[in-house]
Formats: sequence, C-alpha cells, structure tokens
Amino acid sequence: MSIIESSDLTKYFGDLTAVDHINLSINDKEIFGLVGPDGAGKTTTIRLLATILNISAGTATIDGYDVQKEPSSVRKLIGYMSQRFTLYADLTVKENLHFFARLHQVPKDQRETRTNELLDFSRLRGFEQRQAGRLSGGMQQKLALACTLIHQPKVLFLDEPTTGVDPVSRREFWRILTQLNQQGATLLVSTPYMDEAERCTRIAFMDNGRITACDTPLNIKNNIGGRLLELDVNNPRAALAILKTASELKSAYVFGELLQIAVDKKEFSIRLIRRLMADNHIVINSIKEIPMSMENAFLSLAGAKEDKGVSRGSANV
Ligand SMILES: Nc1ncnc2c1ncn2[C@@H]1O[C@H](COP(=O)(O)OP(=O)(O)OP(=O)(O)O)[C@@H](O)[C@H]1O
Ligand SMILES: [Mg+2]
Repeated sequence: MSIIESSDLTKYFGDLTAVDHINLSINDKEIFGLVGPDGAGKTTTIRLLATILNISAGTATIDGYDVQKEPSSVRKLIGYMSQRFTLYADLTVKENLHFFARLHQVPKDQRETRTNELLDFSRLRGFEQRQAGRLSGGMQQKLALACTLIHQPKVLFLDEPTTGVDPVSRREFWRILTQLNQQGATLLVSTPYMDEAERCTRIAFMDNGRITACDTPLNIKNNIGGRLLELDVNNPRAALAILKTASELKSAYVFGELLQIAVDKKEFSIRLIRRLMADNHIVINSIKEIPMSMENAFLSLAGAKEDKGVSRGSANV
C-alpha cells in the first residue's frame, strides 16, 4: 500500500521549475532514497511533501491526506528533519527534546517518558545536560532526529541527515533509521552518499526537477547505469579527454590511475576504445568489464548530460 503519493507534483520559483511533474508512489514501510546532483530539487520535493512549501501544480497525499488541503492532518503523521541545523545550540539536549515535545503538542504527562525513551534510543543518555552546540556533529544529528521523532511520526522526511558526519557516526545513525523502519516507519531520505543509497528499498534519481530513474539499488546498478569497463593505459588523462568526445560512450571517469567507462554495448565499446587509443598513440595495458557500483551508476546518470555537452564542443571521433 502506498503511503506517500504524488501526481505531477510541481514547484515553480518564478521562472525556475524546481520540481517538475513528479509522480511518486512510496509504499508503507519503505526506506525510499532521493539522490541527485546539487540543485536537482530534492529539498524542494521534501518540503512540498512536508507541507512547508505551497504546491504550484499537481497533488500529493500522505496516508490518504491531501498535503495542500489537509496540512494539519498531514503534520500529525510526519516528522521532518531539514538539511540545515535546526536545534537550539544554547539549549541542552533535554531542553531541546522538551521544546519539540511542546511544539508538537505531546501531552504533558507523556513528555518525560518520551524524552527518556529517545535518549536511550539515540544513545544520548549521559549527555542530557550538554548544550546542543557543544555536541559532536554526529551527536547533533542524532539529537535532531530524536527531536523529529518526539510525536512518533509514521512517515519521516530526512533531508541529507548525515551530510558532513564521520563514517562511524553515519553507520550509527543508519542503525537507528533501520530500527525505526523495523518498528513501522516509512522513510524518505535524501543523501549524497552512495553507501546510504544502497541501504534503501528503492531510489529515485533526480535531475533538473525531474525523476530520471526510480528502482531498487540492484536494478539501478544492473540496468540503468549500463555496463562498466575498466581501462588501464599509459596516459589516463589524455585517454579521458579523448573518451569524453565519444558520444557512443555514456560516461568516463578517472579512478586513481585507472579509467572507468560506462557503456551500453560492451563488445562494440571495447572495439571503439581500442581504435581511439590506437589512433592517439595511447598504449592499453588492459581493458575489462567490472561490476557496476552505485557510485558509478550515479556518475553515469548524473554525468551523461554533462559529458555529451563536452563532446559537442570538441573534436568528432
Ligand atoms: N526558496 C527558493 N527560491 C528560489 N529558488 C529556490 C528556492 N529554493 C530552492 N530554489 C532553487 O530550486 C532548485 C532546487 O533546489 P533544491 O534545494 O531543492 O535542490 P537540492 O536537490 O536539494 O540541492 P542540494 O543537493 O544542493 O541540497 C535550485 O535551482 C535552487 O536554487
Ligand atoms: Mg537539498
């Protein structure tokens, strides 16, 4: 059953279309990931669904409630953790939790119990009296999440909740998210980290306000990114410049001393690459297919347009 639905959801900022006719259907208890380059429209999409921005066109519902027409019913169901720091730096951990409890009208007699549950759940016990501004980055994000959870929302919108947080704290944060999900929450989370995208049940890739791909991480890797070749040459930089001019290839990137090239047709592309390298006196040490990683699939999806731009302005193959 779908708990988050949108139909042609659109947001204009003046002449700019930040969110462009998005159709989402997110199932109950999914962990749904939103990925895409800077300015793709991820934050705007989340803000529309979280009733923070007015919708320009189209509709959206959360658990059957219309986001535009029934915002107060929607707000009771959702928790929203914004991309920017939302805590009160000079309030303590406990004061922040109490503040959000009042804000979300958690009944007075439940506030203390709920605060204590969340202190344990987020492993912030022992830091109750510390000012939020003096917590580490990872702990601040856990506190922000705990504050978002104070009214026990069914649907959570998390906008880049772990950006800038160290890998150990990110793992800890995801442990909490997985636990929340197992307890029945549906999560819509935007992230720049591909290891986090892989933890999602499905991912939507956004670009220029549109969803250009939406599938399970496995299918995105297997189908959408294409196949991946690894090329070892004597001059990777020169080889990259040449490969970027080949419109038949989806994208090409340098990884360390090796080149990774996303392609649609393997045998055809290998022949093409061999010819291009030979024509330009570049020596191939090896060329082979390697498994598509989420990062490569992302680069392939994000880079296709940009690389084609380069190819148009450069010499033909
Ligand atoms: N309040 C606003 N007024 C005008 N333009 C806006 C506003 N908010 C966002 N935009 C524009 O809308 C587009 C989408 O922005 P958005 O913040 O949704 O992208 P994003 O995918 O979240 O990017 P990032 O990865 O950098 O967080 C951008 O071009 C941005 O400049
Ligand atoms: Mg954003």
